[in-house]
Amino acid sequence: MKKLNYLNDFNFRGKRVLVRVDLNVPIAHGAIVDTSRIERIIPTIKYLVKHKAKVILISHFGRPKGNFSLEMSLAPIVDSLNAFLAEDNKAKFCIDCIGEEAENAVNSLKNGEVLLLENLRFYTGEEKNDPKFTAALAKLGDIYINDTFSCSHRSHASIVGLAEILPCGIGMLFQEEIGHISEILKHPKTPVAAIVGGSKISTKITLLYSLIEKTDLLVIGGGMANTFLKAQDHEIGKSLCEDNFLAQAKQILAAAIKHNCKIILPDDVMTSSSINDTRNCEIVNITNIAHDKMILDLGPITCNNIINELSKCKTIMWNGPLGAFEFPPFNVSTETIARAVAGYTKQNITTSIAGGGDIVAAIKASGLEDSFTYLSTAGGAFLEWIEGKIIPGIKALKDNYTPTCQTEKLKA
Ligand code: 3PG
Repeated sequence: MKKLNYLNDFNFRGKRVLVRVDLNVPIAHGAIVDTSRIERIIPTIKYLVKHKAKVILISHFGRPKGNFSLEMSLAPIVDSLNAFLAEDNKAKFCIDCIGEEAENAVNSLKNGEVLLLENLRFYTGEEKNDPKFTAALAKLGDIYINDTFSCSHRSHASIVGLAEILPCGIGMLFQEEIGHISEILKHPKTPVAAIVGGSKISTKITLLYSLIEKTDLLVIGGGMANTFLKAQDHEIGKSLCEDNFLAQAKQILAAAIKHNCKIILPDDVMTSSSINDTRNCEIVNITNIAHDKMILDLGPITCNNIINELSKCKTIMWNGPLGAFEFPPFNVSTETIARAVAGYTKQNITTSIAGGGDIVAAIKASGLEDSFTYLSTAGGAFLEWIEGKIIPGIKALKDNYTPTCQTEKLKA
């Protein structure tokens, strides 16, 4: 079994520590919608501050594709980050993540101080894992700590490249995430259910096949359910649908029968003429969807069916909301099912785990965050873990594991 270094394996005093975090927080109308990803990196920052490291936070934000973009600057995130840090540990911000500006900012850090560098994805080298970009980043640190399981499915410079160059380890959030996820999902208690929502089937094809093999019950909601309904010859009006994936949807349904996995699709739905039209919402059976209407949430009969089926399950994993939850009243099914899962968890009927920005935000908005067994900050990485894929960030950390007593010698 390959190993990882943890924070307590290092002597951080006076060291420049590059900490990869995930500050890719959900934003709506310019404001942060959910601060979970900020709050959950605070223990690692506090640990490093206490141990007199020079803490250099690096992160991406959005997908700027190698170009500067004011909307994707990390500058406004500093205030939210500082709201969780003590007065004398407030983070400073640097307008670049490599080069002279960043080097000067790092050189001026004293032990125990915190610095946040600008968005890594303003450089194409980050996503390409370009060795030159990695070297420019590595110049800023003596030790590399990865505290983002949620980004570790990306083979990027700040995830893979740095682990190959600097003495490396994982932070407290990363340790917590993989600990909980592997504990729950390695040998899950059966029957196992998966709830998968979100808008597109195209991004979740391999996941769906893998879930069919691994679970007893698969609930499909959100926009992706529409493609399945159309594949079953239902009229779905103006609903979001991926017509290129109708054949795939049929194959997934056939594979589910073969693997004895029960699939739940909507029987009734809430429709309206558009996401902004909350006056003309209607609950209809899926055989009665009008040409000029779109499906925006699951209906009550479907919710009751799901709740009933989930009551028989001992493990429930969930990714993606079941309706357009950001636009009430299309949040009803997500909230109703979340309440049921939270209740089963509280009664020790089931172990529940949810991963991904949207579903975690929805669960938090319903005040249920303490009622799930575990909420992961990871979306894509969580899904790839469920699929059993190799996570490049973890592989890089393990492949480059060196006992820290030796890394001290290497650096000397
Ligand atoms: C996420 O939001 O899941 C992570 O921050 C990764 O972001 P990405 O999908 O843009 O790589």
